[in-house]
Amino acid sequence: MPSSGITAVDAAAKGMKLERYASGGALMLRRATSAKIVSASSHLLFRATVLATLALVFLFTLHYPSLLFRSFHLSAGGGGPGGAHSASHRSLLMSSSSTSASYGGAAWEKEMRQSARPSRDGGISVLVTGAAGFVGTHCSLALKARGDGVVGLDNFNSYYDPSLKRARQALLASRGVAVVDADINDGLLLEKLFDVAAFTHVLHLAAQAGVRYAMEAPQTYVASNVAGLVSVFEVAAKHADPQPAIVWASSSSVYGLNTDAPFSEDHRTDRPASLYAATKKAGEAIAHTYNHIYGLSITGLRFFTVYGPWGRPDMAYFFFARSIVAGEPITLFRAADGSDARRDFTYIDDVVKGCLGALDTAGKSTGSKSGKKSGPAPLRVYNLGNTSPVPVTRMVAILEKLLGKKANKRIVTMPSNGDVPFTHANVSHAAHDFGYRPTTSLEAGLRHFVDWFVQYYKLDIKIAKGARSAADKPAKKKKAAAAMSAAS
Ligand SMILES: NC(=O)c1ccc[n+]([C@@H]2O[C@H](COP(=O)([O-])OP(=O)(O)OC[C@H]3O[C@@H](n4cnc5c(N)ncnc54)[C@H](O)[C@@H]3O)[C@@H](O)[C@H]2O)c1
Ligand SMILES: *[C@@H]1O[C@H](CO)[C@@H](O)[C@H](O)[C@H]1NC(C)=O
Repeated sequence: MPSSGITAVDAAAKGMKLERYASGGALMLRRATSAKIVSASSHLLFRATVLATLALVFLFTLHYPSLLFRSFHLSAGGGGPGGAHSASHRSLLMSSSSTSASYGGAAWEKEMRQSARPSRDGGISVLVTGAAGFVGTHCSLALKARGDGVVGLDNFNSYYDPSLKRARQALLASRGVAVVDADINDGLLLEKLFDVAAFTHVLHLAAQAGVRYAMEAPQTYVASNVAGLVSVFEVAAKHADPQPAIVWASSSSVYGLNTDAPFSEDHRTDRPASLYAATKKAGEAIAHTYNHIYGLSITGLRFFTVYGPWGRPDMAYFFFARSIVAGEPITLFRAADGSDARRDFTYIDDVVKGCLGALDTAGKSTGSKSGKKSGPAPLRVYNLGNTSPVPVTRMVAILEKLLGKKANKRIVTMPSNGDVPFTHANVSHAAHDFGYRPTTSLEAGLRHFVDWFVQYYKLDIKIAKGARSAADKPAKKKKAAAAMSAAS
């Protein structure tokens, strides 16, 4: 990622703006003095002042280009007095790891345009947020592989090991997908991206994920899943021309404490069991608003416990595998009624097919005014699950077999920490509308995961039953730089 300097064009724009400020100040000064002094000397004074001001501005520009760039940059978005407000707003919402000034410049724009350009006829151009994340990486690779244009965006936050996100970014770069290091709350950056590349679609996956972490860091959920979602919708609705169609990740967690299985899209979603679920539910309401007012085409996808290679270290299958290898105890939850917790584990390749199917069938955004001619823009929501819930104890048994080692299990009653006892998807809508059909059993999927896991962390383990698969071989063997214990 080239870090941009200030281009000649930027500098010229800056100069023009400063000149305007300078002459405005001089005009005021002239008004104040003209009453006291005769007009001839006032003209002289005026000219001298303008010259002196310009000289000062010139010197200032020479010595503090970065300072000037920053204030110009912020006031451009905030609009006058709002500039200061937007600056503090931004720093509040964005994680410290994001580098808001690392974009812009001719080389950067060229890189973005190239990454966004489809290589096949009729290919789409997609902005993928959360592209260095688990699902984002797989979707970006799949889109690129079939000839679509992809630009990724991710803030590389440290909720889990950022070196894993960087490794995914390196994999994406090797396939020609650029990932911008930025926060979705950076509205200026989003506007700039849409100016540079006319994205036809946005696959919005950036979010603060994880159910239990919401009790530790509630505001990060609001910042990324509510404010960040609004930021993406705002740019798509008001700035992008043409408006893109948006597909975004909601979650099966919106079904909360429901017990009617399988979960269908029209079941109630008003009893979230965690703040994470509540922010996803809020997102679905916000999606309705942006569809209704601005004619944005929006599709929400309710993912069910997605797992696989390049997965998330904060999820049970991943940290159970780590603990089993390290010989550390694992904790399993039993529902209050004594039954094992069950999950509708869904393999990443199946989810990717669902995401691409949703993108391919997304209708066009219609804008707020053309709604009558072309009908309302689509507002859709789909479950993407596996349709066969498996007890978590069974998942552990499969891992034990693959890793050739017994887990040291502790079984306790599920605490009220946001987890739900079971999930089970009804995917008939996704099947009907874009042929979604999950085909990967938990046994086969976990084999792919363990295969990757052992290679990525360079573990000295023979995977059971000669089950190594040729697929999913990481393009680059990454060092186990982040040792196993550090990887969460
Ligand atoms: N994996 C699952 O089982 C699952 C289930 C239901 C829903 N989801 C949803 O699917 C999406 C993708 O999930 P994932 O499993 O790939 O998670 P992930 O954490 O691996 O990916 C999310 C990515 O978004 C980035 N990000 C977070 N906040 C950001 C911000 N403010 N600005 C820019 N980037 C930001 C993170 O750095 C991360 O790389 C998320 O919206 C998640 O809530 C996932
Ligand atoms: C799944 O959802 C469809 C559509 O809502 C419904 O017709 C069907 O009965 C549901 N299946 C089950 C098993 O509940």
